[in-house]
Amino acid sequence: MTTGFTIWFTGLSGSGKSTISAILTQELRDRGLKVEVLDGDVVRTHLSKGLGFSKEDRDTNIRRIGWVCEVLTRNDVVSIAAAISPYRAVREEVREQIGRFVEVYMDCSIETLAERDVKGLYRKALNGEIGNFTGVSDPYEPPRHPEVVCYSDGRETPEQSAAKVIAKLEQLGYLERPVLMPVGDDALVYTEDEEEEVTARLRDLGYL
Ligand code: ADX
Repeated sequence: MTTGFTIWFTGLSGSGKSTISAILTQELRDRGLKVEVLDGDVVRTHLSKGLGFSKEDRDTNIRRIGWVCEVLTRNDVVSIAAAISPYRAVREEVREQIGRFVEVYMDCSIETLAERDVKGLYRKALNGEIGNFTGVSDPYEPPRHPEVVCYSDGRETPEQSAAKVIAKLEQLGYLERPVLMPVGDDALVYTEDEEEEVTARLRDLGYL
């Protein structure tokens, strides 16, 4: 049995897929796992070079990324896909193909993304300078049953979003829960303040 799995991000451009992927990569490598990220912007410079943004080209892009994730997943590697992947049907297709698959929806309103406009693409899309722009002039189909929803509109910090993904991976059995190592006499005992902090954190994350 493989220990690999795929974390599949989906969400609009600028919604934080790459940011959360980077935090997760660090956390998972710290736990001794092998991790590869397939980022849409990067994949489109080689594996999917020449593909555009028609539905057909996007589906081809997603199937290619999905295939690489499948190969990595069955070889004990954690693969993280960070592409918009706007179409539900092809996301379901790669989910079936990969099996060990955790879908993470980066939820952020188009208004917030257009206001931030980190890459300056929303302004161009809204001015009609770029056609078929996801969320503006091209469809985005949010997942109906993602394993995790992260709110990147300011409700959560990137660290909180990444912590939600890690918690879900532990809950689903893809990751082991870290064991508290007894160091001192009372190393396993929380102080009242620590206990409160942990409870507040779990509440923030929606677990309590
Ligand atoms: S996907 O739809 O095929 O999954 P992918 O994640 O690879 O998309 O690429 C999206 C990135 O390409 C965006 O973050 C943005 O930087 C750039 N881009 C350029 N044109 C478009 C467009 N028409 N729609 C969406 N993103 C675009």
